[in-house]
Amino acid sequence: MCGIVGYVGDKPVAPLLIDGLRRLEYRGYDSAGLAVLEGGTLTVVRATGKLKALAVKVEAEPPRGTVGIGHTRWATHGRPSDDNAHPHRYGGVAVVHNGIIENHLALKAQLRAKGHAFSSETDSEVFAHLVAEALQGGRPLPDAVRAAVAQVKGTYALVVVAEQDPDCVVATRESQPMVLGLAQGESFVASDVPALLEHTRDVVFMEDGELAVLSRTGILLTDRAGKKVDRPPRRIDWTSTMAEKGGHKHFMHKEIHEQPRAVADTLRGRVLLSEGDVHLEGWNISADEARKLTKLTLLACGTSYHSGLAGKWMVESLAKLPVEVELAHEFRYRDPIVESTHLAVAISQSGETADTLFALREAKKRGAKTLAVCNVVGSAMTREADMTMMTNAGPEIGVASTKAFTTQLVSLYLLAIKLGRLRGHLTAEGARTHFEQLLHVPKLLELALENEPQVKAVAKAFHTAHDFLYLGRGPMHPVALEGALKLKEISYIHAEGYAGGEMKHGPIALIDEKLPVVVLAPREPQVAYEKIVGNIEEVRARGGKVIAVVEQGDHHLRELADHVLEVPASSKLIAPMVATVPLQLLAYHVAELRGNDVDQPRNLAKSVTVE
Ligand code: AGP
Repeated sequence: MCGIVGYVGDKPVAPLLIDGLRRLEYRGYDSAGLAVLEGGTLTVVRATGKLKALAVKVEAEPPRGTVGIGHTRWATHGRPSDDNAHPHRYGGVAVVHNGIIENHLALKAQLRAKGHAFSSETDSEVFAHLVAEALQGGRPLPDAVRAAVAQVKGTYALVVVAEQDPDCVVATRESQPMVLGLAQGESFVASDVPALLEHTRDVVFMEDGELAVLSRTGILLTDRAGKKVDRPPRRIDWTSTMAEKGGHKHFMHKEIHEQPRAVADTLRGRVLLSEGDVHLEGWNISADEARKLTKLTLLACGTSYHSGLAGKWMVESLAKLPVEVELAHEFRYRDPIVESTHLAVAISQSGETADTLFALREAKKRGAKTLAVCNVVGSAMTREADMTMMTNAGPEIGVASTKAFTTQLVSLYLLAIKLGRLRGHLTAEGARTHFEQLLHVPKLLELALENEPQVKAVAKAFHTAHDFLYLGRGPMHPVALEGALKLKEISYIHAEGYAGGEMKHGPIALIDEKLPVVVLAPREPQVAYEKIVGNIEEVRARGGKVIAVVEQGDHHLRELADHVLEVPASSKLIAPMVATVPLQLLAYHVAELRGNDVDQPRNLAKSVTVE
């Protein structure tokens, strides 16, 4: 995600900001910028690409002030470019923003009507305009920021400077992290602790709705109502590497725990509860075209392919549209049958996977309409597809995909609802029932994460095993495949994922008392549950060790299995998201106990840009 640094003091601010941003580089970004105030004059410098490009521009004409704000941007609204880079400036105001402004289009329209012109494609720029407007009434900057955020719907970590109030920096947040750094004669603000550690270890974590005014004499923190907040600072003793990982030992662990937040970001702004519809930016398939669709082809590799397999369940059941899920590298070389009534969807975290990109091109060349479901704005697939749907998981650094998978599942669920509504197979009321379940997913993931100690104990019992078998039926089959992939990627233990029904057609021969068998056994769908219980009996009869992923309160399976990993109960299309959590944690803890490099497993690359 984006990084923020702000400073008020007596040191030259430009190099200090660049250094702070450098310490947030691990988060990933595609452009950077800073704004410096000197004697009531604002200078803004921005550059696409790495911080080096910004540093070169700054060195050519160094801004000399000691008050300023800086930002590294990971694109969400608008491609990576100098114009879309932060800070955004308007009328003597400069802002940096992390988060998403859901009502930016409506706000821009109102501001345009008052004569405002916008210079970027971002949602964030609207803040600079709102603050500038609010300052016109002669308000002090903190009040103007309050007035601006009161008009906004969405999430933000927002830091503002203004020529009108040149000795302070104002920061506020809503559902985005923000931390204040305290020191003698100077004050700091940042989106993350690593940016501050060089200067201070005394920090205050801001809460939602709070507003901080930073000056050389200290920081005034107030709550939503404007009342002073006295929160004692915390002394941080993390090393900078620990701080980068937010206190987690590995990025993968951090990313597994980020899933509730990531899924909330995927849903944000897309669920139109009152209309019973899904809002997808740039969507250009009419109801008539949607009804004429004859096939949906999902193209992907690896983890993204597994999310496609689960997506097939969603789209076929909600939109009654036949779905084919294709390994992208196979599709491309098969002389596939593609028609103009097909919608081809490339699913990819990176948006750069060569196999998937080439398959997308092939589908487009052969006449299909194309959609890219990606996590990286501006990536090749988002540039080439007719439409794009961002998963909004934030940068994924661990090579093993985790939050990318769950957010892809949520995206495909939204796509299924959208198509179901357009094709007339889902009423507004029906869509609302699915929304209720989807909006509950962040909470369900949190509950699943709470059972980590249970998973850790199982990892301890089996981390020396040579092989694992994963079984799932129906929508749990892709989860079994994903669980096995996760384990082999980072623990280097041989693991196979199978549909439960396939067991007696071969894999049953593998079962002996040394084989751990992970069985996905949520209660929904009921028919799959009954059959998977049968699989458990078969494994036990041959001495295999059953690790069952079960719904909380399933006493029957608790008795039957050797170990259980409990997850909260959910519906059949949500259960794959929830049941994935213990499997990610199991792979993580097994790999950790084996002393492997969890974030950078051998022979693997995060983005496979060659065939
Ligand atoms: C998953 O843990 C792997 N890193 C890998 O299977 C990955 O999902 C695959 O290479 C596809 O990548 P993409 O989603 O970036 O296209």
